[in-house]
Amino acid sequence: MRFTVSLLAPLLGAAFAAAANVPRVISQNHGTIAAPATGAVATSGGSFPFSYLDSNWCEGGYTPITVWLLDHAPTTASLNSTGQFTDAKYYFGPFLIGNFGLPPIGPTLPPPSTLTMPDLSGYPSGSAMYVAVVETANNCPPGNQPAQYGMTSTQMVTA
Ligand SMILES: *[C@@H]1O[C@H](CO)[C@@H](O)[C@H](O)[C@H]1NC(C)=O
Repeated sequence: MRFTVSLLAPLLGAAFAAAANVPRVISQNHGTIAAPATGAVATSGGSFPFSYLDSNWCEGGYTPITVWLLDHAPTTASLNSTGQFTDAKYYFGPFLIGNFGLPPIGPTLPPPSTLTMPDLSGYPSGSAMYVAVVETANNCPPGNQPAQYGMTSTQMVTA
């Protein structure tokens, strides 16, 4: 027993160290932001239509997405190890898309048809804003693969 524990401890330590350094896997795949339209006006505190058609490149039953607002063009370089933007102005939240007609399972809700802008009063009229969607694929073959993150964005302009 003592032997087992002393053998396991370094192994576990190595496993945790490796997990902390696992690079996030960026995929070139992504879905399509059907709304807002490119160039749509972003009003401070206003609502805007939102629609995202997921790619689901690894054909999972459910697709987690996160939705963000950035005040500069988003790149996957600023996604951290959990696929979250480190330089976003605002986080609209996580949503879960049911594929193949699957119903919502919660607790994460399906994407709503409208989202609400945060306070944009610090930006001059005509500033570029970007709504970005990060889609996660958890179901990639051959199984037990790290999550893959794909990203797309749409540019809006402040009122
Ligand atoms: C990734 O970024 C998000 C949002 O900036 C942050 O809340 C989270 O703690 C970060 N995760 C890691 C593992 O750094």
